[in-house]
Amino acid sequence: MHKITIAIDGFSSTGKSTVARQLAKHLGYIYVDSGAMYRAVTLYAMNQQFIDDNQFDVNALVTNLHHVTIHFEFNRETGNADVYLNGKNVEKQIRTLEVSNCVSRVAAVPEVRYQLVKQQQQMGKEKGVVMDGRDIGTVVFPHAELKIFMTASAETRAQRRYDELINRGDKVNFNEVLHNIQERDYIDSHRADSPLVKAEDAIEIDNSNLTLDQQFQKVLNLVTMTL
Ligand code: C5P
Repeated sequence: MHKITIAIDGFSSTGKSTVARQLAKHLGYIYVDSGAMYRAVTLYAMNQQFIDDNQFDVNALVTNLHHVTIHFEFNRETGNADVYLNGKNVEKQIRTLEVSNCVSRVAAVPEVRYQLVKQQQQMGKEKGVVMDGRDIGTVVFPHAELKIFMTASAETRAQRRYDELINRGDKVNFNEVLHNIQERDYIDSHRADSPLVKAEDAIEIDNSNLTLDQQFQKVLNLVTMTL
């Protein structure tokens, strides 16, 4: 069957990855979580002590970028994709609030973006891909057949992310999660290189008041209309 490219962009914690994973599983497509790639580079930079809350040695990261390899192991049955940093599964480590607090500064570095965007385009070159992120419909796949832009209020998003972190057993408080989301929204939409903007031809979905099932049906209808 004819395969397309589906780009899902939006602010932090809008549920992009949940719907992207559901879609990939339903359509038999691959799912690429581009945020996981920026998180993996951030984890590398943190492990090397190039970045923490107070400092960021951009030069050291850029000089060492060639030491960073990222790949996914994709499970078509579950729709899950685990991310690997230099051969090691880091799926759990990249989701902490510590990584979230540094990732937007790392993602603003043009050399980091250049390397990851090239890899993302390579992964999607056969089509049959659902990719979520901030610049997928604008930069990575400007010709994607279907572009979706997800939104929800910052409080709704913080509550979802807070529940997720607490369920994993992380000790966080709601206000620090909300603060992290607002800060990332700001940095992601104000950086010079590939800021988060809605592509002109993207379809916006506000899911503040949608159940997961309603959201999935809505997106699936868009796919059916596009195919
Ligand atoms: O999607 P997620 O929240 O895991 O992304 C983490 C961070 O990675 C974002 O806040 C953003 O700074 C960066 N990112 C990006 N471009 C993408 C995907 C993520 O800059 N395509």
